[in-house]
This record gives sequence, C-alpha cells and structure tokens, in this order.
Amino acid sequence: MTTYQPLRYVYQPARPPAGRTLLLLHGTGGDEHDLLPLAAHFGTAVNLLSLRGNASENGKPRFFRRLGVGLFDEEDVIFRTHELVRSVRQLSEREGFDVTQLVALGYSNGANMAGALLLLYPELLAGAILWRPMQPLVRHVPAFCTNRHQPVLLQPGIKDSAVPLSASAAYAALLKQGGFELSRYDANAGHNLLHDDVQAAAAWFHEHFPEPVVSPERVLSPR
Ligand code: MLT
Repeated sequence: MTTYQPLRYVYQPARPPAGRTLLLLHGTGGDEHDLLPLAAHFGTAVNLLSLRGNASENGKPRFFRRLGVGLFDEEDVIFRTHELVRSVRQLSEREGFDVTQLVALGYSNGANMAGALLLLYPELLAGAILWRPMQPLVRHVPAFCTNRHQPVLLQPGIKDSAVPLSASAAYAALLKQGGFELSRYDANAGHNLLHDDVQAAAAWFHEHFPEPVVSPERVLSPR
C-alpha cells in the first residue's frame, strides 16, 4: 500500500509575517522554485509556500500522474490531493501560517492540483488563481459545495490546443455551481504564460485580497 509522503517545499514568510499565504504550484517539469519570482507581483504582505509535486513523469515533477495529455489518472489525482493537504496542514503547524488563509496560484498541472483542492476540499482555500487549467476530475466529480464563496480566477488561453474554451466554460460553471465566486480572464495565448497573465492575476488578487492598512502607531517607533 502506498503511504502519504511529505512534499518538498520552500516557505518564505512576509516581513512582518502576514495572515495571507500564497500556495504556489508549478507546472509539469517545474519545481518549488519556479513560481517564486512571479510571486513578487503579488505584493510583499503575503507569505509564500511553494511545493514540489510528488509524482514523476520520466523524472519530471508533477502533482499527479497522467495517462496522456489532458487524460488524468483520477485515482492518483484523489490520492495526491489528500497527500498534499496532509502535508500542507503539517507545514502550517511547523511554519506557523494560517491554513484558512491560503490562496493557491497554480500553472498548468499546478492549476489542476489547485482545482482538485477546490473540488475535494471546497472549504480549504481562501481563493485560487488557475493559469491554463483543465478540470482535474471528470469521471469522479465529487458532490462539493462551499459556503465561504471564495473567489476563483480562471485564466485559459484562447489558443491553447490542449484545452477547448468550451471545456473551460463547463469547468467554470461547475465551480460556480459549487459556490465559488468565479472570474475569468481569457488570455490571447496558448498554454504558455504571458506577462499579461501575471498582471491580470495580480490585479485580481489585489482587488480580492487587499493588503491590510498599517496604522501609524505600528510604523512609528515609541518615543
Ligand atoms: C501539463 O502539461 O501539465 C498539462 O497540460 C496539465 C496536466 O497534465 O495537468
């Protein structure tokens, strides 16, 4: 029987430590360092937790196995999602971040893991940004519902040959039906990520998760 393994990670607390944490999830062949430079666009008042997927495709890290492009091993999606959640909960105790204030930022396979979190743990994330996502569970769609009405941003590419826009629309409708507050930004791109994607996501993030106002008492030194 396969047992859950911890995921490799990088944790960078904001200074001073923030309530909010961005959960960074890389694409196929990436690792926990990939998205850190892009996270700089999301401001300084956010902790960063970046994970490396435990699945491997010919040595390339992924968050779950696939049988072909866009064809996922759904049993593995479910197993790896439980594994990741267990790891994140352990890390929140070790590193001291608030697990209820996680906003996922995932690209491609990482976006699909973030989507699996929305479907299988609908109350877990405070929000999610999905760059070039695909619906991760199609044969095993769980009955899911959130009462937190968390904001979710989908960013499909209109020229992405792997993901028809009709599939993105169906995925958005499913998430909306489960209680998420959906926004969508259709990028004029394929599966690759553009600078415009990062800017659109950062603007959405600042709108939905504004930085806390620091009162003058906290920034002035005592006399
Ligand atoms: C990828 O290249 O990673 C796919 O498009 C998405 C996935 O396999 O999850």
